[in-house]
Amino acid sequence: MRIGIIGAGRMAQSIGWLAVQAGHDVMLSNSRGPQTLDETSRRIGCVAGTAYEAAEFGDVVCIAIYLQDYQTVPKAPLVRKTVLNPQNYFPHLGRIAELDRGELTTAELLARHLPESRIVKALNAILAEDLIPDARPAGAADRRALPIAGDDLEAKSIASRFLDQIGYDIVDAGLLSEGWRFERRRPVYCRPLGTCALQEMLLATSPDSRVPEGDWYAYRSRQDRHQQ
Ligand SMILES: NC(=O)c1ccc[n+]([C@@H]2O[C@H](COP(=O)([O-])OP(=O)(O)OC[C@H]3O[C@@H](n4cnc5c(N)ncnc54)[C@H](OP(=O)(O)O)[C@@H]3O)[C@@H](O)[C@H]2O)c1
Repeated sequence: MRIGIIGAGRMAQSIGWLAVQAGHDVMLSNSRGPQTLDETSRRIGCVAGTAYEAAEFGDVVCIAIYLQDYQTVPKAPLVRKTVLNPQNYFPHLGRIAELDRGELTTAELLARHLPESRIVKALNAILAEDLIPDARPAGAADRRALPIAGDDLEAKSIASRFLDQIGYDIVDAGLLSEGWRFERRRPVYCRPLGTCALQEMLLATSPDSRVPEGDWYAYRSRQDRHQQ
């Protein structure tokens, strides 16, 4: 597949590297232009373009820029495409009233901007620096599972196959409107979990379930960090 990535920072580079290892063709992009990405794209083994070109390039397109910039994402080249949404909401970077009021999930906000695309919330609940070290081949006993959500079954199936190819099991949390269950500060957010533990914790997550800010970093240094 061709994977277009809007963004070329920590998430984009980790996802891009894993995608290239899995045999996909990848295009990264940023706001400053592809001429600033020569060294990065050479290291990852991908190509670089503008954000518009990356959106055109991808069969699947991942939006790896800050959520507050979502309105800069080009619409036309993303019509009918599977769009992965790893974006999390950091209010200190700019408040978004609908999110503060709990009227929309982060993925629904992007879906409202891209009504003709097939949005899948994915890859938001893992730290960029864990993406490469935690990837495992299918069937590995300590394989980590990641949650997804989306309204389009075919897009979710494409996203699931991609996540499996880059090293992760998948738990489907339901529609885009259920994406809040694994947004920032929810119990499963950036917590290494296997499929069963993730399923159970997602189901047990209520609108009041929140962990303290930064709690998830504690799992990085623990020997017993992975819970199946
Ligand atoms: N870091 C994590 O651990 C993590 C984990 C899960 C989810 N996420 C989510 O992933 C997204 C990216 O986070 P990150 O940590 O990778 O950020 P980052 O390292 O700061 O990278 C952001 C990238 O976006 C590019 N960019 C900014 N505005 C753009 C635009 N309008 N068009 C195209 N490219 C643009 C930047 O390029 P320029 O420098 O040229 O502007 C940069 O390459 C965020 O939404 C974040 O919430 C991050």
